[in-house]
Amino acid sequence: MEWTGLNELRESYLKFFESKGCLRHKSYPLVPQNDNSLLLIVAGMAPLKPYFTGQETPPRTRMTTCQKCIRTGDIENVGKTARHGTYFEMLGNFSFGDYFKKEAIAWAWEYVTQVLKLPKDRLYISVYEDDDEAEKIWHEDAGVPMDHIVRMGKEDNFWEAGTDGPCGPCSEIYFDRGEKYGCGKPDCKVGCDCDRYMEFWNLVFTQFERHEDGTYTPLKQKNIDTGMGLERLASIMQDVDSIFDVDTVKAIRDHVCKIAGCEYGKEYKKDVSIRVITDHIRSVTFMASDGILPSNEGRGYVMRRLLRRAVRHGKLLGINGLFLKDLVKTVVDCNKCEYNELEEKYDYIVKVLTTEEQNFNATIDRGMKILDDLIAQMQKDGKTELDGESCFKLSDTYGFPIDLTREILEEKGMTCDEEGFAECYAKQRETAKNAHAATKYMGADETVFHKIDKDFHTEFIGYDKLEGDSEISFITTDDELIDNAKAGDEVYIVSSQTPFYAESGGQVGDIGTIVTESGKCRVVDTQKVVAGKFAHKAVVEEGEIAVGQKAHFTVDRKTRYAVMRNHSCAHLLQAALRKVLGEHVHQAGQLVDAHRLRFDFSHFNAMTAEEKLKV
Ligand code: SER
Repeated sequence: MEWTGLNELRESYLKFFESKGCLRHKSYPLVPQNDNSLLLIVAGMAPLKPYFTGQETPPRTRMTTCQKCIRTGDIENVGKTARHGTYFEMLGNFSFGDYFKKEAIAWAWEYVTQVLKLPKDRLYISVYEDDDEAEKIWHEDAGVPMDHIVRMGKEDNFWEAGTDGPCGPCSEIYFDRGEKYGCGKPDCKVGCDCDRYMEFWNLVFTQFERHEDGTYTPLKQKNIDTGMGLERLASIMQDVDSIFDVDTVKAIRDHVCKIAGCEYGKEYKKDVSIRVITDHIRSVTFMASDGILPSNEGRGYVMRRLLRRAVRHGKLLGINGLFLKDLVKTVVDCNKCEYNELEEKYDYIVKVLTTEEQNFNATIDRGMKILDDLIAQMQKDGKTELDGESCFKLSDTYGFPIDLTREILEEKGMTCDEEGFAECYAKQRETAKNAHAATKYMGADETVFHKIDKDFHTEFIGYDKLEGDSEISFITTDDELIDNAKAGDEVYIVSSQTPFYAESGGQVGDIGTIVTESGKCRVVDTQKVVAGKFAHKAVVEEGEIAVGQKAHFTVDRKTRYAVMRNHSCAHLLQAALRKVLGEHVHQAGQLVDAHRLRFDFSHFNAMTAEEKLKV
C-alpha cells in the first residue's frame, strides 16, 4: 500500500464505483431534507432513504457518493481521545433493488486488495451471526480464510439510525494495525475495545424498514448501503496514529498550534484543546456553508455548542482575540477541490462564525466580571467555596459555562459547591417541566367551544367572496353557550360557513358585520377555535340576534384588501432579504395586518443601514 492523500483517496473510490456502473453524486447537504427523524446527516445513506424504501425513484439504481456527515453522540469524548470526532466524510456505494451481497462483497474486496493494495493478512471480516450467505461469499468467492472471519451479534452487525428508516444486517472490514496498538490481553481480537483492529468499511444489506414503534417490516426491494469513513481509511493509507494525523486534518491541527504557539503531542491537556478545535472548526465551517446558523434549538444549537466549545478551548490554549476566521481558511483550502461551495461562500462563512465568536466572547467577558467580583467577596469573607446558586446563576442567566467557572476557581485554589449547583439545576428543570405541563394543561383546557359538537366545522368561503349567507349556529360568551344576545353584548358567533378569514400564519382575522332580520353585529376579530370551527368575535350594535337565525356576513373590504396587500409585501420583502442578505433568510414568524407587516427571520448580524436601504 502506498501513502495516499485524503483528497486522492476520495477520488479513487468514487472512480472505482463509477466503473462498476454507479452514478456519482455530489455530497448532499448536512441538513436532512424532508426528514424529521434526524437533525443532521449522519451517514451516506441518510439522504437516500426514499430510494431505499421505494418511495421515490433514484436517478440510477446504483449510486456512489462521498457524503459530509456529523455525529455528535460522543461529543464529550472529542478531544479527550484521538479516536473521536464529530465531522467526517463517508464514502458509499448504494444499490436500490439492483446488485446485492455478492457484488457488494466482491467489489469491496477488489477495491481494498487490488486498488488500495492493503495486505490481505491484515484484513478481517465480521458477519452478522445468522448470515451464512455472507460468510460463504467472503470465504468462497473472495478467498478470505475462515480464521479471518468472525460472527457478531445484533449490537455490532445490524445497522440502523434514527427512529425510523431502512436498515439491515451488515458485514464489516477491519484492518489489523499491529500489536503496538493492541491492549495485549490474550483474548484481544476483532471487536475488542482497543485500537488494534480498526473497522473501516461497513457493508449493510438493507432489507428492512424500522418504524418509530420499534418494529421492522421487510422492504419491497433488497438494497446495498456501504459506508467507509474517509478519514479512517486515510489514516490506514498514511500509516498514522489517528484521524488528527491525516494530511488534510493535520493541516488544520498545525494551524491551531501555530496560532496558539504550541506543539502537538507534548502535553495531554493542550492536545485535548487542539483536537477539539481541529475537529469542531471542520464541523462548523461545513454547517455554515450548508446554511445552518447558531441558535438555541435544533441543529442551530448543535452548531452553537460546537463553536463555543472550540472558542473555549482556544482560551484554554491562551489564544487571544478572534481566531476562527483564520482556521476557516485552512479548512476551505484543504477541502475546496471537492466542496467548491466552501470557496463561493467563504466570506459568508467567516461572517457567521465570527459573529457568534464575538457574541460568545462578550458573554464570557460579562461573566468574568461577575465572577471576579464574587471571588473578591469570597476572599474578603475568607471563603474558598462558591455557593451553588451563584455558579448556577452564572451559567443559567449569564450563559457563562460552568466548567469555565470551575477552572477559574481552581486557579485561585477555590472550588464550586457542586452539590448546590446540581440542586439548583434539578430545581430549574423541575420548574421548567411543570411550567411546560401547566401550559399544556391550559392549552388543552376546556373552552366554551368544546361544548359544541366536535364534528361541527365552519367552511371558509372567503377566498373569492367577501360576503355570503349562513345561519347563526352558536352564540357564546367567554364561558357559556347562549341562545341570544342583545345590543351592547360582546359575544362569539359560530356559523357553518363564513367569508371571514380567521387569524393564522401571522395574518390577522377579518373584521366586518353580521346582520340578521332583527339585529346587527360588528365583528372585531375572527379566530380559529377548536376542531375546524371559526369564532367571530362580535359586539351586538343594534337589536337582537338569536341562534338559528339566517344572517348575512360581510367582510370589511377595505381592511381585507389592505391586509392582502401587506401579505403580498411580506413575500416581496422575503425575496428582497434573500437577495441582499443571502439564501439563508427564512421566515421565522410574521405579522400582517391592515396597517403594517412584520417579517421575522434569523440572520447572524444586525442589518446595516446600507443593507436596509437596498432591501
Ligand atoms: N449506513 C452504514 C453506516 O453508516 C453504512 O453506510 O455505517
